[in-house]
Amino acid sequence: MESNRTKLIQLLSNHTDDYISGEQLSTALGISRTAIWKHMNDLKKDGYEIEAVRNKGYRIMKVPTELSAASLQWGLKTKWLGKHLIHRNSVDSTQYLAHDEARNGAPHGTVIIADHQTKGRGRLRRPWHSADQHGLWFTIILRPSRLEPKDATQLTLVAAVALAETYRNFGVEVKIKWPNDVFSNHLKLTGILTEMQAEQDQIDYILLGIGMNINQSKDDFPAELREKVTSLKLESGKTSDLNVVFHDVARQIEEKYDTFIEEGFERIKAEWEKQAYQLNEWITVKKKESFRAKFLGIENDGALRIEDEFGKQSVLYSAEIIW
Ligand code: BTN
Repeated sequence: MESNRTKLIQLLSNHTDDYISGEQLSTALGISRTAIWKHMNDLKKDGYEIEAVRNKGYRIMKVPTELSAASLQWGLKTKWLGKHLIHRNSVDSTQYLAHDEARNGAPHGTVIIADHQTKGRGRLRRPWHSADQHGLWFTIILRPSRLEPKDATQLTLVAAVALAETYRNFGVEVKIKWPNDVFSNHLKLTGILTEMQAEQDQIDYILLGIGMNINQSKDDFPAELREKVTSLKLESGKTSDLNVVFHDVARQIEEKYDTFIEEGFERIKAEWEKQAYQLNEWITVKKKESFRAKFLGIENDGALRIEDEFGKQSVLYSAEIIW
């Protein structure tokens, strides 16, 4: 159940260019005008700037920059992504909470987001450093009706293309490093962790876990990561409002996801390859033995296509790459 406060913020967000009267608000919410006035005072205490004009009504001028379900949804211009959104100050991992919510029937497009994760998880069971309010740590619950489990890996590449677009919108030049990291100046900006619950040929749900480094300075990262990672702030020189970055990335992901579901993987694959890190360059593949190979692109299932020094092509599903 949405609280009156959330409903009030939603009503106000529909009237950013004009005013909404106390009477309209009290009718819509079924509460007294005095109760509306009290809510307005509470919102102001929480950092909302609200203009009240006699005989006209109320208008929100500014929402606080701290994350909350209301601030994340305020100004969110998506059709389905994030319409149901759960925000927590601290969780172990948004992936765990998302699994619980998905098992309890959370709808397609649900977003679980936290200021801070105590057990943020990366791929290959690595920890994911999720400092308080320095980045966006969130998981999207997806229930694709027309996707086969074998094609689910493509969704990670869809997300990588969307994330790259957002960083670019905020002024940073990026590349996508196989399989799905967004890099700037050879340093990692973001990571994606995809998990799936499926039965036979039917996907129940997919969790797209996304960690975006946004406002960290070098010192905010643990010493062992400093030479490997970066943030939007370090690359653009500007501190960003996390809510605004979220609005952008949610739109990008929704748009790319819809393209993918409607048109198939081809266009996303082409976009991925256009911005691939070290495409057509020589890399070192570490398997049982190390060998040099040219990185040619990706396959329809997201595998890496390479060509060795003798011109023989092959496909890699997992391997350590020295770029
Ligand atoms: C990686 O590059 O290894 C993937 C990192 C994924 C991190 C995100 S942050 C939100 C979600 N919750 C987690 O515990 N992990 C993912």
